[in-house]
Amino acid sequence: MTNKLKYFIGNWKMFGDFGSFKIIQEVNRYIYKNKRLDKKKIVLCVPNTLIHFFKKKLKSNIISLGAQNCHFHEGYGAFTGSVSATMLKRIGAEYIILGHSENRLEGETNQIVKKKIISALNQKLKVIFCIGETFKEKKSRKKFSVLRKQIKSSLEKKFNKNQIIFAYEPVWSIGTNKIPKINELENIIKFIKKDFRILFKTGNSPKVLYGGSVNHKNIKSLSSITEIDGFLIGGASQSAKKFIDIIENYYK
Ligand code: 13P
Repeated sequence: MTNKLKYFIGNWKMFGDFGSFKIIQEVNRYIYKNKRLDKKKIVLCVPNTLIHFFKKKLKSNIISLGAQNCHFHEGYGAFTGSVSATMLKRIGAEYIILGHSENRLEGETNQIVKKKIISALNQKLKVIFCIGETFKEKKSRKKFSVLRKQIKSSLEKKFNKNQIIFAYEPVWSIGTNKIPKINELENIIKFIKKDFRILFKTGNSPKVLYGGSVNHKNIKSLSSITEIDGFLIGGASQSAKKFIDIIENYYK
């Protein structure tokens, strides 16, 4: 286990209403009291319908709020039902999840993800860029080539990489209670960092989070991988207790 402070980012997905503010309050209280946490690294990515409401109700800036997707077009436009990075920034989002496999499964390509990243970066949102292989790709040993393609086709050398945090989320581990073997996961995280350095000819590695069935039990074994810079937590972030238990057990 390392003492280096990590990101704990919740992805609420399509969950929550105004009453869910009590979850935010509870997490907020916990972070406020807990001196050892880096307050800037606790983020909840909530539905768009709640960002502004939560932002206004939160009297402090302890928890950061994020969105979970946007349209690639910046500003305003004739895109029925869509929301742009510009609009999300204006209502108080600081982060945005892009390239999540649940959106890729609905047809979002690497090229679309790239356009979304460009608009989010233009709006000074911090991007949580999701990559990960399906079970079929893992079984056919295509994992590394899939990850490389996702990175290569969605990022460009000129992007401000300090604004981008990677989230490695194997599709087969999302909501399944399955996580990769610790040594395999360690190798993948190292691979992503190295590949990034090679692709973009830089000495700096990106921050890489792990996401997929993270809970208060498996967090202890995940904490042994020092290269992981934090976690993207789905289901368990929809409960203040479960989310807090994960952070508690990580630092225990
Ligand atoms: P679960 O933690 O529910 O498996 O979801 C992970 C995820 O998709 C986070 O983005």
